[in-house]
Amino acid sequence: MLYGLMTEEINHSYDGGIYAELVRDRAIGRGFGSLVHWPMVARGNSAVEVSVDETTGPSAALPRSMKVSVTAATEAAPAGVENGGYWGIAVRPRTTYSGSFWAKTDAGDVPVTVSLQNDATGIIAAKTTVTGLSGEWKEFTYTLQTGAQPVSTNNHLILTIPRPATVWFNLISLFPPTYDGREHGNRVDIMELLAAMHPKFLRLPGGNYLEGDHIATRFNWKKTIGPWVDRPTHPSPWGYRSSDGMGLLEYLEWCEDLKIEPVLAVYAGYSLMQEHADPGAALEPYVQDALDEIEYVTGSADTTWGAERAKDGHPAPFPLRYVEVGNEDWFDRSGSYDGRFAQFYHAIKDRYPSLQLIATAPVKSVTPDVLDEHFYMSAEESFKRSNYYDDHPRTGPKIFVGEWATREGDPTPNLQAALADAAWMTGLERNSDLIIMASYAPLFTNVNPGAMQWAPDLIGYDALSSYGSPSYWAQVMFASNLGTEIIPAKLTGTATRIYTSVTRDEARHRLYIKLVNATSDPRQLTIILTGAGKVAPQAKLTTLSGKTPNATNSITNPRSIIPVKDTIAVAGPRFTETFRPYSMNVLELSYE
Ligand code: AHR
Repeated sequence: MLYGLMTEEINHSYDGGIYAELVRDRAIGRGFGSLVHWPMVARGNSAVEVSVDETTGPSAALPRSMKVSVTAATEAAPAGVENGGYWGIAVRPRTTYSGSFWAKTDAGDVPVTVSLQNDATGIIAAKTTVTGLSGEWKEFTYTLQTGAQPVSTNNHLILTIPRPATVWFNLISLFPPTYDGREHGNRVDIMELLAAMHPKFLRLPGGNYLEGDHIATRFNWKKTIGPWVDRPTHPSPWGYRSSDGMGLLEYLEWCEDLKIEPVLAVYAGYSLMQEHADPGAALEPYVQDALDEIEYVTGSADTTWGAERAKDGHPAPFPLRYVEVGNEDWFDRSGSYDGRFAQFYHAIKDRYPSLQLIATAPVKSVTPDVLDEHFYMSAEESFKRSNYYDDHPRTGPKIFVGEWATREGDPTPNLQAALADAAWMTGLERNSDLIIMASYAPLFTNVNPGAMQWAPDLIGYDALSSYGSPSYWAQVMFASNLGTEIIPAKLTGTATRIYTSVTRDEARHRLYIKLVNATSDPRQLTIILTGAGKVAPQAKLTTLSGKTPNATNSITNPRSIIPVKDTIAVAGPRFTETFRPYSMNVLELSYE
């Protein structure tokens, strides 16, 4: 379980990130009111006004809509609205896009033409017409099929009508093909990057995003399930509103698609602006929400919330072993966490005795199974702290390092950060009798100007492509070369900024030696395997290195620093190898 992922809506992680929706601000509602991403389209002599209508919407959750009043238009000169997506809409050749919208009109069956147009060339990549609108709110679906045009991101989705009429819209959506073909699922490229990390779990849904700035704006999971039209959307603490397309079920399906476990963080009655519910009766509704949430995740389809999940399209329960109560509750200056945690602990353990409960700050009144500790460090600190847990007492709770990162590089970490991460991870591995899970944070950023609130982030992307930072590759290398037990390893000699951890997979007869050379010089090391039987004469060596600590990857140069595989000769249980400057290395040895 050691290596996993931590996620929340930050830096456009979902909207404009892994959640594959192409349309920005698809929900017209409170907080999306300015229609800044929905400019008017008026061809020829047509005329149109676009406004938010506060009086009509498709549901109680979305009581507003975008009113498109066309006063002059023809087939040749239609009018309507357009959307430029999240810093562009990626259009690929010979691809089927699935779309939908809610609409009503005051003018009989007015046809709505939907198209994808390239901003520079004016070429329409795909086009279709939707009919059947009436005076009642209704959902319509459509498909856009592209031809042979080249890949591009400077595109708009355009909706027009060919005659004077008023049409009210909401939830205008367009999806490209998704990972594993999941309806309304995740971006293929980003999911592939995650799969290559061999993660074991996904800590969700935050982070600060779980807590919200205020109790009213917390991640209120019950408002993130079911049809979109029943999801009111909500403001996130990171400065933009969330569509809640990535709702609780979508998080769980994300885990399912990667074949990993959710580590479910439940809202614990505290929000970032120091609002909290006191332990006792005031906290009870939040405890009940958490119990309901656990039932939604794990209950069979004949339980109340399991039935709700089945209605949402997923009859089978999800696996769940770890539940985290809150996030970074050391920030709660009222001192209420001890009592809040205890109340959640007793209620959850009573009903689900096998669940392991994670506390986010030290508590005294009960002993949590696991304590979540967070570290955001400079490279210097990460190097120094590679021994942080070596002398940590083994008598208390297990440790989940639920957020950590070396913060150097922008928007994504550079090689120095990756080397420091690797040094830190050798410490996590060497102490993995105590540290049962660890996840880097934040995981994602959209690299476009204005999209990011926190740097650096492990994976960067724009509308079209994504890349892993050097720190991402460190994660890939560490997680995909991990034994099942720790082997004591000792560094002797002048080992300045050299770090190691050694693990063994006894069943597969493999030894994994991780070596970080964070110095500017090549380092010749003699490796002595005491107690080893026969060692295979060749070993696999994977190396991540660069010319300077500032070397890095970017959206325009995504593969400058990537692992390189080699084979080296192993003379026996004592052999010598030279490791490159600024490098992290994994040696995989086979033994009898
Ligand atoms: O990872 C960014 C933020 O850092 C998280 O939301 C929060 O838990 C921590 O303070």
